[in-house]
Amino acid sequence: MKALLLVDHADHKLDFQEVDTPKPEKGQVIIQIKAAALNRRDEWIRQGKYPGIRFNTILGSDGAGIVTSVGEGVSEDWMGKEVLVNPNMNWGENPAAQAADYHIVGMPTHGTFAEYLAVNTNQVFEKLAHLSWSGAAALPLGGLTAFRAAFHHGKISQGESVLISGIGGGVAQFAFQFALAAGAKVYVTSGQQEKLDQAIAMGAQAGFNYKTEGWQKAAVKASGGFDCVIDSAGGDQLNDFIRMMRPAGRIVFYGATNGMPAKLDLFRMFWNQITLQGSTMGNDTEFADMISFVEEHKIEPVIDSVRPFEEIIDAFDAMRDGKQFGKLVVEMN
Ligand SMILES: NC(=O)c1ccc[n+]([C@@H]2O[C@H](COP(=O)([O-])OP(=O)(O)OC[C@H]3O[C@@H](n4cnc5c(N)ncnc54)[C@H](OP(=O)(O)O)[C@@H]3O)[C@@H](O)[C@H]2O)c1
Repeated sequence: MKALLLVDHADHKLDFQEVDTPKPEKGQVIIQIKAAALNRRDEWIRQGKYPGIRFNTILGSDGAGIVTSVGEGVSEDWMGKEVLVNPNMNWGENPAAQAADYHIVGMPTHGTFAEYLAVNTNQVFEKLAHLSWSGAAALPLGGLTAFRAAFHHGKISQGESVLISGIGGGVAQFAFQFALAAGAKVYVTSGQQEKLDQAIAMGAQAGFNYKTEGWQKAAVKASGGFDCVIDSAGGDQLNDFIRMMRPAGRIVFYGATNGMPAKLDLFRMFWNQITLQGSTMGNDTEFADMISFVEEHKIEPVIDSVRPFEEIIDAFDAMRDGKQFGKLVVEMN
């Protein structure tokens, strides 16, 4: 089968190769991938900025497709089912934090950027009827990360004032839609005006360009302060968020694209009862809950673009350049 592998060449790190089509092991199914989606993680891996990198691994954490064969102990009822994949592997018994051997489909185990994927049945969910192949492929990793940030840690509820930063991001898009569906008043930031306009058209109360001087004051004036901020950039901007919170506000961050803050305003944090909470993807129960939430609210992932699988390296370049609004998806023939 055709697959996109991480390779250790001097001039390139991504390579299409013909590899053996996987055979199902005990408890597994084989999925013929119909669509797959990129995450920032894939680009971090290409750049060598991800822990535990193993060359000659098929990349890709998000995918959806059709079950074409089943392994020992797996019901034949799976055959022909349209499914999507939970990319979590070995979260473990503790819902609060992942086990030491936790990892994610697409590094170090083979991923979804291939014609076929072997995966355990407990990671396979029926594709939601309201989603296209691209929509189903776009959902898993970003949806799960946003769901845990928004509800497990963020505790977003109806009527609250919520800020989603960097609305162009794949995860941010889901956090935005989940917060709207929960009945929150949602505000957004972006470095690009057209992304703010798109978010306002989708239901944001207002949008602020984080590259514009004084955006913080304008955001507080418009919102009256925030009960919850969902962020993936980190950096010194965290101090802006601390100043923008209502008492007992929750700041949840699931990435640190801008690195560490030089300092942190601990005085304001303790006095105003502010929580600063790190978050990752989520446990398997949260994945199932996220799927139900998306089904109940008929949420459609925002898709920036869909390319043929053969053009996936262009999608990596688009991710690197940060021009996307929503998910970058590829479809197989
Ligand atoms: N912990 C986990 O399990 C987990 C899971 C998924 C992702 N992540 C991490 O979360 C981050 C985002 O992932 P993603 O997949 O959503 O990536 P993505 O689709 O590439 O989105 C990144 C977004 O970051 C925003 N951004 C850049 N500078 C910013 C700033 N100063 N303030 C606010 N936003 C800024 C940009 O938004 P605009 O274009 O709107 O300016 C950009 O679209 C990455 O660091 C990723 O590694 C972690």
